[in-house]
Amino acid sequence: MTDLRRPRVLVTRRIPEAGLDLVRATCDVDLWEDELPPPRAELLRRVAGVDGLLSLLTDKVDDELLDAAGPQLKVVSNFAVGVDNIDLAACARRGIPVGNTPGVLTAATADIAFALLMSVARRLPEGYDHVRADKWLTWGPLLLLGKDIAGATLGIVGFGRIGQEVAKRGRGFGMRILYHDRARVSAEQEAATGGTMVPLDQLLGESDFVSLHVDLNASTRGLIGAEALGKMKSGAVLINTSRGPVVDQAALYDALKSGHLFGAGLDVTDPEPLRADHPLLTLPNCLIVPHIASATVDTRDAMARKAANNLLAGLRGEPLPDAVAPPAI
Ligand code: GLV
Repeated sequence: MTDLRRPRVLVTRRIPEAGLDLVRATCDVDLWEDELPPPRAELLRRVAGVDGLLSLLTDKVDDELLDAAGPQLKVVSNFAVGVDNIDLAACARRGIPVGNTPGVLTAATADIAFALLMSVARRLPEGYDHVRADKWLTWGPLLLLGKDIAGATLGIVGFGRIGQEVAKRGRGFGMRILYHDRARVSAEQEAATGGTMVPLDQLLGESDFVSLHVDLNASTRGLIGAEALGKMKSGAVLINTSRGPVVDQAALYDALKSGHLFGAGLDVTDPEPLRADHPLLTLPNCLIVPHIASATVDTRDAMARKAANNLLAGLRGEPLPDAVAPPAI
């Protein structure tokens, strides 16, 4: 029987037990168990009357959903650091705090960015295909020649936690680090990362590798389109672990197909999922993985605990440990 004193919460997918257990200890949990996200109509139906929502980046949290939930909704806790799936202004208008999971996925995400960078530079997917197709006939002086990493310039667009962590990896591999952001980071952060702030055009023109680490918002949507790609150094590599719509994929296809870019490594695409017949997947120099940057056991456990703690704090009416700032009006 439902205990009426326990808050009701909707968790929109199975997350690690490390977080679910915390929520279950004090809440009545409606858990959407499918591998796929709840269809919109189901989400709107299930959210009705809940006190807390633990959402994923695959759930759109907007006016319609908040209205469907009702005025008792106290908190939205996103199981992600990115919150572009959430209409923050709509939440703010209703006084609903929004939580996210920063910090705990910084290293894992930087690792994937760097793994993509190295894989594309050294053509690992092509090498693996070569072996699997039984095309490996001998050691070849000209076989699968890639790009050097040591001594190359790494340009990081968006120099927050993850961008800075990527810089440290690049520095460890002997790269020169440029970055672009709205504002310069502190002198300590520049010293720790070896990063030098430059205008975006200069970064694009000088970098052998460009890695994207911006939030998705109105100013970053389509930031890397035909014009920006055209400004990139010939033979450069683009890495995207931020959000798919930051890159214009049709323009990226042209830049890869023409040979202007050496390659691209994408953890995120637009749309997600990207179907296997997408033109980008016909290109040998484009490596795409299914949005797995934070997908390690420990990182996802830590994200689950953070998401649970944000949810529980919101239900108690306390400040969220990781509250997303409401948009400036
Ligand atoms: C994943 O993309 C996240 O925002 O946590």
